[in-house]
Amino acid sequence: MIIKSKFGNYTVEFKNYFNENKKQKYFYLVDSFFKKKNIKLKETNTIYIKASEKAKSYIHVSTIINKLLKKNIDKNSIIVCIGGGTLQDITSFIAHILFRGISWIFIPTTLLAQSDSCIGSKISINFKGVKNILGGYYPPQKIYINQNFLKSLKEKDLLSGLGEMAHYYYLSDKNKFNFFTKNIHSYFDKKNIELDKMIKKSLKIKQTFIEKDELEKNIRIYLNYGHSFGHAIEAISNFKIPHGIAVCFGLQIANYISFRLGFLSLDQLFTLQKPLKLISKNYNLKKYNELEMIKILKKDKKTINNKIRLILIKNIGKPFIKKFEKDSLLLKYLLDFKKFNLKYN
Ligand SMILES: NC(=O)c1ccc[n+]([C@@H]2O[C@H](COP(=O)([O-])OP(=O)(O)OC[C@H]3O[C@@H](n4cnc5c(N)ncnc54)[C@H](O)[C@@H]3O)[C@@H](O)[C@H]2O)c1
Repeated sequence: MIIKSKFGNYTVEFKNYFNENKKQKYFYLVDSFFKKKNIKLKETNTIYIKASEKAKSYIHVSTIINKLLKKNIDKNSIIVCIGGGTLQDITSFIAHILFRGISWIFIPTTLLAQSDSCIGSKISINFKGVKNILGGYYPPQKIYINQNFLKSLKEKDLLSGLGEMAHYYYLSDKNKFNFFTKNIHSYFDKKNIELDKMIKKSLKIKQTFIEKDELEKNIRIYLNYGHSFGHAIEAISNFKIPHGIAVCFGLQIANYISFRLGFLSLDQLFTLQKPLKLISKNYNLKKYNELEMIKILKKDKKTINNKIRLILIKNIGKPFIKKFEKDSLLLKYLLDFKKFNLKYN
């Protein structure tokens, strides 16, 4: 798969090995989960990082840069990132700013990273507890997807990947949505789930958005469907709810508000919520304070002139932007969402 990018086209290859070029100097930023696993890396050039939202901070990133400089990294070196979306965000940020940009390669090891974050060029780190507000665009040169990595994922991280993947299928068409729903049911019925196809289809859907609008000037904004609420939920939970599960709740709230505004029928709403409820079933939002949610939404990148803007949906594949003139209406919908969920659970 070749992804067209303003920053240089890059490739996604599905293979379980990566060969170093003898003439290049490589540095490895690796998720600490793999420290005791049998991955043969040159230890002197390897830094293990514990994946967490705290690790995605400006201060932590500077300590990693310091370590890389001590190991004599230079402009022609290549950084190889082995890990999930967290390691990706840390690595891409460093690769972008160090020596005004050095090459990097990504070997994604989580479902979320393999099916979504590995393409799209976005880099982001957190600042003062606010998620993803420092960043830019800086894609890797190459991405190698090896699905064997997924075998060791905890269930919560697998479900987080499915939760994040959901929004692509909801933004595509009925066939792809049905394929996604069928696989989610298979997973919960302990039957075979077609992860390989799910990953490839998800990347293909994302590719259509990012190749048309890499810098999020128009249609890419729709990929934020579920994400404004998702980021707020993550923050309120002090990042205890995994990113993809928070997005999955965000999708449920966006769908509910679309229903309240008359864009979805009750039947359509139930069809859309069913797979999402399965994915998020181990978590709940009962303790969440809606006012706090509004406060966080006000800091969202899409909020302009203090007016919250959300991506809602008219049906599968039909997203639109809704600006809320008054916070009070949004607050009412958020409170009603909780009651509605209690009634129909
Ligand atoms: N840059 C982007 O375009 C983009 C897009 C979506 C999400 N993100 C970011 O990605 C982050 C979430 O990424 P994630 O869901 O991949 O989580 P993650 O990278 O935080 O990893 C989740 C957990 O899985 C562990 N892990 C990683 N690989 C494993 C494996 N193969 N086996 C067992 N455990 C493994 C990690 O140690 C961690 O505990 C968030 O910070 C989110 O904001 C970035």
